[in-house]
Amino acid sequence: MKPLIVANWKCNPSTFAEAEKLFLAVSRGASKTGAEVVICPPFVFIPGLSAITKNPVKLGAQDAFFQEGAFTSQISINILKQFGCKYIIIGHSEKRALGETNKIINKKIKACLENNIIPVFCIGENRQERRLGKTSKILKSQLKEGLKGISPFNIGKLVIAYEPIWAIGTGNACDTDKAKEANIFIKKTLTDFYSGKNIQKVRIIYGGSTNPDNALSFIKDAGMDGLLPGGASLDAKKFVAILNKF
Ligand code: 13P
Repeated sequence: MKPLIVANWKCNPSTFAEAEKLFLAVSRGASKTGAEVVICPPFVFIPGLSAITKNPVKLGAQDAFFQEGAFTSQISINILKQFGCKYIIIGHSEKRALGETNKIINKKIKACLENNIIPVFCIGENRQERRLGKTSKILKSQLKEGLKGISPFNIGKLVIAYEPIWAIGTGNACDTDKAKEANIFIKKTLTDFYSGKNIQKVRIIYGGSTNPDNALSFIKDAGMDGLLPGGASLDAKKFVAILNKF
């Protein structure tokens, strides 16, 4: 399967003109990549970028609400679907830090799957938890709560992003050994929760200070199925350099 590279632009750039320029530069640069490429811009840029989206770049979103109706400020999955969003990042640590709970994350994952959208479910420990040797415990509880009630049939559609919080935006990516350990632990935990072949279809990707120099090793050495770059995805040259590793 092609490596999946999901760009999380977060709350950047500040104007649509810059977003369009970046999107077009990445689209041009991505023409020869062997990766599956998804760009997740801020919500308000999605309609404009959907009009200029072309292969191989796909559009995604950084979040979505699980319902429609009287929910001021929220954006539903259906609103996003009409603009061609195929993937939605759910449970990013920066959302969790603002109060998003495992319970809400679980509802959002279910809503994505019910609407044929692929959730990119983010999990990861913080520095203190890693230091205290609690990484496995944290990953297991995030997986358990986030995946509550998700059927063995649907589980195979999921993408899980391992994003250790201490590696995000720091320039200090996780060692490939640690990423490999987390990858194996996530797979083992999924097999404890589910039986059947669908588990093997779950894609596990890595995010946290990825760049053109370390991108390949997360796939080759840590066995990841893809990457979730943040900062590097805002620089067309860097992001295209990552894409062209594959
Ligand atoms: P950085 O690549 O900037 O560390 O961000 C990673 C991330 O949070 C992607 O979701």
